[in-house]
Amino acid sequence: MLMYDIISKKRDGYELSAAEIDFWISGYTQGVIPDYQCSALLMAGLLQGFTKQETLAMVESMIASGERIDLSDIEGIKADKHSTGGVGDKTSLVVMPIIAAAGLKVAKMSGRGLGHTGGTLDKLAAIPGCYTELTTAEFKQQVREIGIAIISQTAKLVPADKKLYALRDATATVDSLALIAASIMSKKIATGADILALDVKYGSGAFMQNLADSRALAQLMVELAQASGIKAVAVLSSMEQPLGLAIGNALEVKEAAAVLTNNGPDDLRELSLTLAAELILLAGLAPDRAQAVDLARQQLTSGAALAKFRQMIAAQGGDTDFSHLPVSPLVVEYRARESGYLTAIDARKIGLAALCLGAGRQKKEDVIDPAAGIILRHKLAERVETGEVLAEVHCRTQQQFAAAREILDDAFALAADIPETAPLISDIIS
Ligand code: URA
Repeated sequence: MLMYDIISKKRDGYELSAAEIDFWISGYTQGVIPDYQCSALLMAGLLQGFTKQETLAMVESMIASGERIDLSDIEGIKADKHSTGGVGDKTSLVVMPIIAAAGLKVAKMSGRGLGHTGGTLDKLAAIPGCYTELTTAEFKQQVREIGIAIISQTAKLVPADKKLYALRDATATVDSLALIAASIMSKKIATGADILALDVKYGSGAFMQNLADSRALAQLMVELAQASGIKAVAVLSSMEQPLGLAIGNALEVKEAAAVLTNNGPDDLRELSLTLAAELILLAGLAPDRAQAVDLARQQLTSGAALAKFRQMIAAQGGDTDFSHLPVSPLVVEYRARESGYLTAIDARKIGLAALCLGAGRQKKEDVIDPAAGIILRHKLAERVETGEVLAEVHCRTQQQFAAAREILDDAFALAADIPETAPLISDIIS
């Protein structure tokens, strides 16, 4: 088999066989196929498209490049969740303790944030003492003992994805539905859960800008999961404005803890309960959606979900007293320059403003300030008056605030009329 022939076949719009896909993925991971040939195939695939069969073959070859975690010796139904990424998205910190409290086994490997979107690991790292680097044996032991572990993905899990993603990032070939789906699903399937909830976001702060693309991605990921014997559901949710009110790692942990006591912002609670209920339904713990939501909500009102979260944090070395979370030395109020109804709180721009405060990383090597971030005081369609506080900016220096203010000036928009806003949840695909 020759890589040259595989590239020309895809360039001319033909479907590649599973053997050809495996030749490409395994050859590239082992360093036998050079970057330039892999790049050419990625671009041909991005332009011509990959079929579902090809995508499935990619998933299988990518999984085969590393370790596949076997959770079958842990009793119970093992559940996982994935979000395609957003601003203020701390749902994993709420959903996973809810379902663990309801009796599911949570075995989740998460990633760090990059660019304007946050990552669950960075939020956990904001909790003093909390570590997420566990070996596979320690991970499984914690899931077995307390029913929940959220850790960082081990280097042995799908090494092909790490190499391919870096090349896609440098060659403008990230934006292919098939490549995104294969990248996400190879990591999820290799983690070994029985059931999976996908939170597929669309809007300014998301990977997918529009609902149609996010629906197509969701559909494909659910099909890939099912083909691998995993029961999956996808929730399509809006990322036009940040989720909840807090953006920034310690601030988000605090907000997640508030929702875990059935308080906190409505949108975060609604999305978290929806995702938790979908997993409860997939696991067969409730006969219908309404009862699944009830069961999820009971975990909040009884305190069971918060207790489960604290148990996980303690098991991973963290301080469970959230009044010890790091705080910023400077909190500056950002005020409205006119009156009106909020027609935009651009999630991407708010994420970028938080990034320049140190709440995220622009490059992989950047160090995060866990205390930095933004607390919104309003959501879309609310009325504000001139001079009213729109957001609190948590930072270390006035220079940081000045840089964030420039972005915030562009992030908020006001108008005389109440705007129509998209629903938080547009669809559930199962
Ligand atoms: N997230 C991933 O893990 N992979 C992609 O390709 C895109 C988003």
